[in-house]
Amino acid sequence: MNIYLKNFISEKFKKPGKALDLGAGEFFDVAYLKQLRWKCEAVDIKTGVDLEKTYRSKNEPFDLIYSNYLLHKLKNKKLFIQTIYDNLKNGGWFFIHTFDQSDRNSKSDLSQIYLQKLLAEQGFKNVKIKLFSYYDNEKNHKHWHKILEASGQKNKK
Ligand SMILES: C[S@@+](CC[C@H](N)C(=O)[O-])C[C@H]1O[C@@H](n2cnc3c(N)ncnc32)[C@H](O)[C@@H]1O
Repeated sequence: MNIYLKNFISEKFKKPGKALDLGAGEFFDVAYLKQLRWKCEAVDIKTGVDLEKTYRSKNEPFDLIYSNYLLHKLKNKKLFIQTIYDNLKNGGWFFIHTFDQSDRNSKSDLSQIYLQKLLAEQGFKNVKIKLFSYYDNEKNHKHWHKILEASGQKNKK
């Protein structure tokens, strides 16, 4: 489970809601959220959803949309940010972890400034972005990463 996402959820939400995981991988974060009684939808290229294209869920808009370690891989980052916006409820929050361009262990070309620009142009409010170093201590993965964390809110009408 992404511990930063876990902390974000306990800070922003008093009770469980509905979440969408974009690029869910092995569904670890979804499994944790389900334990907390969140209703979850999770999509990935492996489940047949290509997030280089627009994605509109058939479910109601979400309280929380998160995406961990996918954004730096996508060519069409602007479209992905729009996908987050379109699937969020008014007042809902998004949370993103991705690798910064300074990360030597991923092929990211994403900068903090560009991400900030995309989020502002999309109209997100209360946007926070931070860049930090993280030592990945997993077997066969022992190295530093430069993580970009972004969060923000879709405006309430
Ligand atoms: C590094 S994994 C991260 C998985 C999970 N979010 C996590 O934090 O453990 C990146 C995921 O993005 C998915 N992915 C890559 N390109 C994609 C695309 N174009 N559309 C949807 N998912 C994609 C991969 O299949 C993979 O599961």
